[in-house]
Amino acid sequence: MSNRVHSIWIILNLIIILTQSVVCIPEEIPEDAKLNFTQLAIKYGHKCDEHDVVTEDGYILKVFNVRGDKTRPVYLQHGFTDSADTFIIRGLTSLVITLAEEGYDVWAGNYRGNKYAQCHQTLDPKTDKLFWDYSQHEMGVFDLPAMIDHVLKKTGQKQLQAIGHSQGTMTFYIMAAEKPEYNDKIKLFISLAPICYIHHMKPLASTAVEIWSLLGPLVESEGILHLFSRHTLFSEFIKALCSLRIGYPLCSTAIFSFAGFDITELEHEFLPILVGHYPDTASVKNGNHLIQIAEKKRFCKYDYGLWGNLEIYGTPEPPNYDLGKVVMPVALIASENDYFSSLKDVDLLQNQLSNLVYYHVMERKVHNHIDFVWGRNMTGYLFPIVLRLLEKHG
Ligand SMILES: *[C@@H]1O[C@H](CO)[C@@H](O)[C@H](O)[C@H]1NC(C)=O
Ligand SMILES: *[C@@H]1O[C@H](CO)[C@@H](O)[C@H](O)[C@H]1NC(C)=O
Repeated sequence: MSNRVHSIWIILNLIIILTQSVVCIPEEIPEDAKLNFTQLAIKYGHKCDEHDVVTEDGYILKVFNVRGDKTRPVYLQHGFTDSADTFIIRGLTSLVITLAEEGYDVWAGNYRGNKYAQCHQTLDPKTDKLFWDYSQHEMGVFDLPAMIDHVLKKTGQKQLQAIGHSQGTMTFYIMAAEKPEYNDKIKLFISLAPICYIHHMKPLASTAVEIWSLLGPLVESEGILHLFSRHTLFSEFIKALCSLRIGYPLCSTAIFSFAGFDITELEHEFLPILVGHYPDTASVKNGNHLIQIAEKKRFCKYDYGLWGNLEIYGTPEPPNYDLGKVVMPVALIASENDYFSSLKDVDLLQNQLSNLVYYHVMERKVHNHIDFVWGRNMTGYLFPIVLRLLEKHG
């Protein structure tokens, strides 16, 4: 075959694969990929209320409440580029449904910028750059306190128990350090895949940091303010590809390269549901702040550059968050095969926590970063630990 015929042949094949992937979607995609948090809760047997919570700086965040015993509220906090959905997309074997079955009053919050939190009293996320001018700092200082106060008000309690995953743990440490009065409102904070120090990440998680530090300035100079916008041609294509059986090897390898390999816990039937909910939108500044913490090897505030720092902090370098002020009871649950939250970094954190009540490394050597929320058998290896902790410190 001549080169030309060859190219046409390849292109034809590509077109066939692409049309197939588009045509197949209706029967291929499971219902759960498209249901929102409330719909999933109802489908799996529980009533769910949606609450709007307004932060001190005007963001309007959706908080979901799967009703239970009001004297036992448990608040769940998702991580980077994620949403409350993360805790329920496993359906009957998800954390939300498991806690609800145990009678807990389950609350799942959303950080500014994701699909459940793209409203503001005065700013429009489509036209106002200022809407996207936040990092995990504002999540810890504004979003979490607002959502926690809301839960306490609605349940009539003085304290709640909380569970965070990944960046959802970092923001709790930021809150407790910056607004120490909130320590008293937390009866127990369970950190799944704790993230605080992040300079011992493993490849490709660490590679992502290196690539970001190269591309970050470019991204910013292009005026890009947020990541993973939904419903773009690219995101729809990736979703379609990962929803097909043929896309599984590629998509799962991509995910495992960042989170740690654990093939048995992310089966191909689950992938279409996962990509229906993840990733979600986050600000570029959030990514930048994470990279800064990794590069500076310290748990520090956002680096605005010399003059910005002098103006905001009065010092040339951004100060550290004061972990000495984190006095709420903390339980850390980590794992060896987690590429983001490495045991070395978790050790650094645990040494600085004055009220560490529990530190556990998952027995399964292959347990990775995402098994804490999406693992197929979490009811077996994770939830008994979580339920025991909640019970003991309830
Ligand atoms: C979830 O879906 C239901 C049914 O379509 C809708 O009424 C509700 O507003 C949705 N919730 C959110 C937060 O999007
Ligand atoms: C994990 O879950 C699947 C599906 O429910 C089940 O078939 C399998 O036996 C479980 N594996 C373990 C080790 O429990």
